[in-house]
Amino acid sequence: MEKKMKALVLSGGKGTRLRPLTYTGAKQLVPIANRPILSYVFDNIAKAGIKEIGVIISPETGAEIRETMGDGSKWGVKVEYILQEEPKGLAHAVLVGKEFLGDSPFVMYLGDNLIGCGIEKFIEKFRKTGADAVILLKPVESPQSFGVAEVDGKGNILGLEEKPNNPKSNLALVGVYIFSNEIHRAIASIRPSARGELEITDAIQDLITKGRPVQSHILDTWWLDTGKKDDLLAANTIVLDEWFKRKIDGKVDKASQITGRVTIDAGAVVKNSTLRGPIVVGPGAVIEDSFIGPFTSIGNDTKITKSIIEHSVILTGAEISHVNRMEDSLIGRNAKVIKCQDKHEALRLMIGDDSVVEV
Ligand code: DAU
Repeated sequence: MEKKMKALVLSGGKGTRLRPLTYTGAKQLVPIANRPILSYVFDNIAKAGIKEIGVIISPETGAEIRETMGDGSKWGVKVEYILQEEPKGLAHAVLVGKEFLGDSPFVMYLGDNLIGCGIEKFIEKFRKTGADAVILLKPVESPQSFGVAEVDGKGNILGLEEKPNNPKSNLALVGVYIFSNEIHRAIASIRPSARGELEITDAIQDLITKGRPVQSHILDTWWLDTGKKDDLLAANTIVLDEWFKRKIDGKVDKASQITGRVTIDAGAVVKNSTLRGPIVVGPGAVIEDSFIGPFTSIGNDTKITKSIIEHSVILTGAEISHVNRMEDSLIGRNAKVIKCQDKHEALRLMIGDDSVVEV
């Protein structure tokens, strides 16, 4: 009988690129539209009918990930947390997860990747073609920052390279892969790369070299590797735009105007303010005498007073006061931005958790 498919979600690693935010938290938990990135990953896995998820965690951020994501019952799945002592590469994470995986086929999902569609059709392709691996590809502007595939005119993969200096194409490997148990043998035969990691790209290349069937699929929706501030803002914009509806459960006074797709969670308060969606406002947030423009996420327990904010992500507990105009900004947890003088200027900031900025 065909083995049930499992999922391995990679949420270890160092998370250096989103510093300073990730000095105090896991990058996979950074919220997009007020939900941790990992929640979208779990959504997609559960939607595909997978019931068992192994989550690779690191000693530094594992506890926080476990606490936030819980036992999976919210998604109707069973979650097992697996400690990877050191971030020795994506293929190393599969090695660490081997006992959980057994000889089942599995989806390997990088915990910092968001894609604009479900994964059912990729699983279907894996089953129908009997491939040992299905990989997703997407054309990008800077392929040297990713795993890169060289593909012939018919779409067959000729070779794969991890972060090459001279990429042979603009097709990057997206962080969602489907493998048969053949990948374990491939991983056992590779050596660490120049950067000292066991690369999954090298293991897939080994499958190709040995003549095993590897299928690729060009992703035709958006994809975000949420590693940097601008990617995070872009993800926030797309998710608010595509997946959020108008839903007002919080308190809004008569002097306020709410237009478009605005989600205000129960426990949030809006007074004498204008909100133009898409926007999400988390529980415990208080917005007063302010204008909030499109594509903004206002986190839980934040306080926004006499400010104009657009296209920004404000994390839990932050405070913004008397800021004439803030755009394209990412404000960390418990950070404060307080404008003392009345001078019109747009602020563009990336402020770490617990920072205080007075302009
Ligand atoms: O995002 C797609 C890219 O992801 C692919 O194009 C590359 O081929 C692939 O190697 C990977 O590159 P990154 O440099 O972006 O990988 P990163 O170190 O950011 O790790 C991706 C996820 O896996 C992240 O959630 C952390 C986790 N991870 C990473 C390592 C190295 C682990 O759980 N354990 C690890 O040892």
